[in-house]
Amino acid sequence: MEAVKMARQQSGLCAEGNLHSVYLMFHAQEGVEQELRPCLASVARFIEELTDQYTEPAFNGFLAVGANYWDTLYPGARPLGLKPFPSMSKEHREAPAFEYDLFVHLRCDRYDINHLVANQVVNMLSGLMTLVDEERGFRFLENRDLTGFVDGTENPQGSHRAEVAIVDKEDRQFAGGSYIHTQKFVHDLSRWNRLPVKQQEDIIGRTKEDNIEYASADKPLTSHVKRVNLKDSDGNSMEILRQSMPFGGVATQGLFFISLCRNSDNFEAMLKSMVHGDGEGHYDHLMDFTQAVTGSAFFAPSLDFLDSFAD
Ligand code: HEM
Repeated sequence: MEAVKMARQQSGLCAEGNLHSVYLMFHAQEGVEQELRPCLASVARFIEELTDQYTEPAFNGFLAVGANYWDTLYPGARPLGLKPFPSMSKEHREAPAFEYDLFVHLRCDRYDINHLVANQVVNMLSGLMTLVDEERGFRFLENRDLTGFVDGTENPQGSHRAEVAIVDKEDRQFAGGSYIHTQKFVHDLSRWNRLPVKQQEDIIGRTKEDNIEYASADKPLTSHVKRVNLKDSDGNSMEILRQSMPFGGVATQGLFFISLCRNSDNFEAMLKSMVHGDGEGHYDHLMDFTQAVTGSAFFAPSLDFLDSFAD
């Protein structure tokens, strides 16, 4: 039997959490595709080399191409599920789309290495892409969101991370890749912090200090975990891998939310459940205290796909 070679995924996709992150968002200049394709292969290879070099501070990263730019850059083929960001809104709950052509995600336990690499990546892309937005994420306390709640507890663990996040046989040409959705959420912390802790806990569906999950019957239909814990029509759990981190300064701060998945449907279904609710008025009450100001869809191709365009 012919052995099937596994596509190599970018190693930052399923990496464990770090202390610091840099998010770089770019727009492409016109007509640069021919030069850009080998350049992205070099950037991805550079990130992998640094991953091997900086093992101690656990450097890692990945790059992902915007849904709206994909066909311009790679007109030959498109990942089956790649769609623009599913913007939606209901009453005061907004999830706007704000698309970029390229997302570069860098993480490390050393802030200086991220900074160094970010500068080098921008240099490598100069003349081809323009940096249009940048954020720096940081670990807050024990992996807490700035609301004070531990974030990431129910994330897939170990090899299950790749099962959830990485495309496999269902789309052979894009195996080893991942659908990425990002949203910058700005929190209204002064209003949130005025809420009694019990009300905050009812909104999340877990306790604050000890991070204990509510019993199923006690989870309000308007709690965040109730709204995002979904099953598909066959009764299977719909999962995503979250790589979010807190970002910002005193004036503007919140969560840089990042979802990775082997399809683009799970994220969309969860967001819809948060914004539109269950059809009976139960939307996610977390949305009363935070506002999504961006929303972008990308695909992070495998290293083999990127390398097939190398010089
Ligand atoms: C769980 C915070 C946005 C999907 C959680 C938890 C917290 C949290 C504290 C519980 C602990 C955990 O399991 O990680 C936030 C904040 C958000 C946000 C502060 C934005 C302001 C989103 C969005 C989605 C999402 C936009 C997807 C569209 C999930 C999922 C879980 C979760 C799938 C695990 C639920 C479970 O299985 O119990 N989030 N989240 N979150 N969140 Fe979010």
